[in-house]
Amino acid sequence: ADPHASPSAAAAAPAAAAVPELFGWEFATDPYPAYAWLREHAPVRWTELPSGVGAWLVTRYADARETLADARLSKNPAHHAGESRAKGRTGIPGERGADLMTHLLNIDPPDHTRLRRLVSTAFTPRRVAAFAPRVQELTDRFVDGFAAAGEADLIHDFAFPLPIYAICDLLGVPAEDQDDFRDWAGMMIRHGGGPRGGVARSVKRMRAYLVELIHRKRGDLGDDLISGLIRASDHGEHLTENEAAAMAFILLFAGFETTVNLIGNGVHTLLRHPAQRAALQDALARGDTALLETGVEELLRYDGPVELATWRYATEETVVGGQRIGAGDPVLVVLAAADRDPARFDAPDTVDLARRDNPHLGYGHGIHYCLGAPLARLEARIALATLLTRLPDLRMAVDPEELRWRGGLIMRGLRTLPVAFTPRA
Ligand code: HEM
Repeated sequence: ADPHASPSAAAAAPAAAAVPELFGWEFATDPYPAYAWLREHAPVRWTELPSGVGAWLVTRYADARETLADARLSKNPAHHAGESRAKGRTGIPGERGADLMTHLLNIDPPDHTRLRRLVSTAFTPRRVAAFAPRVQELTDRFVDGFAAAGEADLIHDFAFPLPIYAICDLLGVPAEDQDDFRDWAGMMIRHGGGPRGGVARSVKRMRAYLVELIHRKRGDLGDDLISGLIRASDHGEHLTENEAAAMAFILLFAGFETTVNLIGNGVHTLLRHPAQRAALQDALARGDTALLETGVEELLRYDGPVELATWRYATEETVVGGQRIGAGDPVLVVLAAADRDPARFDAPDTVDLARRDNPHLGYGHGIHYCLGAPLARLEARIALATLLTRLPDLRMAVDPEELRWRGGLIMRGLRTLPVAFTPRA
């Protein structure tokens, strides 16, 4: 059987001429017009991805929300009709063969329930809140690094290093080893998308390091998150060393590029919407953080880092938005399309930092709802507030047309964001 064909696909494919180009260069720059077209004309559409694998793209808000919470859609790649069990598709390059498969984004209940409960006893909102002063310290350190220059690449100098050092600190990776993580993460972000060469090596090294670190910490527990994972127990159950390593890895991996892009895309949106940015700056100057809080959610809705939710596979025949989905078919929920759906959001293509009615899907929905959302919010709020306060005349140093987007499948983010400002001592 052709692994890319779905028996029900032909009926759902609209006239080819009318279909906008997906996954090309223009699409990477601004996918929203294509998503608007899909939402309107083919809300559940069988699509061949650049990798050659086919999947159903779900683009309407109501369908997206329902799909994310549908227990008949499995996260386990073994349910993919077109792929062998060994060929997991988790969006994590180099993961295959590295024995990191038993992580949250790749499993269903009851295993998911058990692991998520265990990690939740260690990765608590309270631990995240207590981490705020450290995030502020790191943020100031990176701004100090370029403040006197009057210019910076906000991706390379700021959005990229901040989340990696933050999550390393939170996990308890010793300071002297954190530069290795920055290098491994840099390799993964630059070459993400396939389990090739350098990426696979980086993942392997990271895994070997984490296994060793967990082993070492077991004999000398501290109050960091890795020690918390080792200690975590629920009704007498614990994480195995392998599970703890996979958990530390997914926390690093899921929490890294996403946060880079939340900061990068967020600053980009603010710089292109001067009235909104000025209102936020005024609020911050008054010590009012309400607009910062609703604003970070709005930036996530308007141009969030996760364009598509990670893979799901139909375990039985089901119907989504009136479209029949065959057993074994992959389904991709397009969060970026759902969050601009006019059926759910007033003026969805307008940035409104004060938007109140904003149940966006940027962190997903249902049992796989982002575990790191409190940390991501904390980092984004501190990063944006610090930039706008310390560099009040921050501006883009290039024509917006010159900006290049990475064009990955799951993530949406800028390669560089050159900015200029009055130098500060
Ligand atoms: C899951 C988005 C930051 C850890 C998810 C999902 C989304 C998401 C959409 C659900 C995926 C799906 O259902 O297929 C984001 C965004 C972030 C962010 C937009 C930043 C702006 C973080 C951080 C961490 C993290 C900082 C950890 C330190 C996780 C984990 C899961 C997850 C572990 C899997 C949860 C599960 O399957 O039960 N995230 N995330 N994320 N996220 Fe995040």
